Amino acid sequence: MKNSLDELKNIVQAILNPEKQPKDLLPEAHALRDLFETWTNFQIDPDGGIGAGETRLDSGLAISPTTAAMCIRELFRTTAFIRGHGDAIREAINPDRPVRVLYAGCGPYALLAVPLMTVFSKEQVVFTLLDIHQQCLDDAMKLIQSLGLSGHVEECLCVDATTYRIPTDKKPDIIVSETMSVALHNEPQVSIARNLLSQAPEAKMIPQQVSVEACLLNGAKEHVFMPADFVGEFPEPERDRIYLGKIFELDAANIKRWEEIDGDRLPAGKVKIPLPLETRYRPHLLTKITVYGETCLDDYDCSLTMPKRLRGEIKEGDELQFYYQFGNHPELRYKTA
Ligand SMILES: C[S@@+](CC[C@H](N)C(=O)[O-])C[C@H]1O[C@@H](n2cnc3c(N)ncnc32)[C@H](O)[C@@H]1O
Repeated sequence: MKNSLDELKNIVQAILNPEKQPKDLLPEAHALRDLFETWTNFQIDPDGGIGAGETRLDSGLAISPTTAAMCIRELFRTTAFIRGHGDAIREAINPDRPVRVLYAGCGPYALLAVPLMTVFSKEQVVFTLLDIHQQCLDDAMKLIQSLGLSGHVEECLCVDATTYRIPTDKKPDIIVSETMSVALHNEPQVSIARNLLSQAPEAKMIPQQVSVEACLLNGAKEHVFMPADFVGEFPEPERDRIYLGKIFELDAANIKRWEEIDGDRLPAGKVKIPLPLETRYRPHLLTKITVYGETCLDDYDCSLTMPKRLRGEIKEGDELQFYYQFGNHPELRYKTA
């Protein structure tokens, strides 16, 4: 495994290199995927399909181990999360003790941690791995052991991260969780971030912020279509959008603000649909992710930041009052005023 570890380390060093732009990292993202899928002999079970083994929790969907493994194929997402997480670790390193990372929803590759174990020593950083699926933890630990990196793992726990109580002597310096879907719907990111960060308010959170904005967009102007034989840099699309305003931000400041709220909803913003509304526009939610510092994911960078159509009958002049609804299908909803 020595050569493989060196290969992984080279990939990670490139991902962490601030001189490289995300689009320059596509070869590294592909190489990372090839390494992990080869090491773990990744296969989709022909009987069960990719969703086999998923769990519908009271707080949302915990995706299946296979789907979680396939997140490595979201190339920009993966490199952005590894870079942002690496920057947060680098900032937190101190001479007194290893930085403690709580990784909630590690999946079968512990993908946002294993690569970083090759560039930071176990004296610099240790990880507690959590997942609701024991199979994810078993697969992740098998991989970590085969790479000789188990010294970096402080604990490995099969628990629900929305209810997990952090021991007082194990407060993390960094909390990492990518348990989300576009516009924070369906998966339990909000519940997990809220539960864990409220117990360790000093911790850095990865992602640092997820924001959702309402917008009217003209679908015909979202992309530039070029001939199949076109060679060269694609021109930027001239999008035709009307931004209506931010409606929700998941970050440390809001998690603090929500401390006193114990119902099944969180407050969100209100927007007004302009009058008149031209028929080419459709209401959408846009998701932006600040992974950490300057490392962000914007429109269309990955499945988590695709514009999401707002359903329902929305008319010109309507005022939409949004709220975040917890539950087994959590999501941003609105009432029309
Ligand atoms: C989107 S995958 C991410 C996998 C990996 N961290 C990555 O970024 O590639 C989410 C993982 O979180 C786990 N998960 C979802 N909800 C959870 C919860 N409430 N508690 C613990 N684990 C959870 C799922 O089982 C899945 O392995």
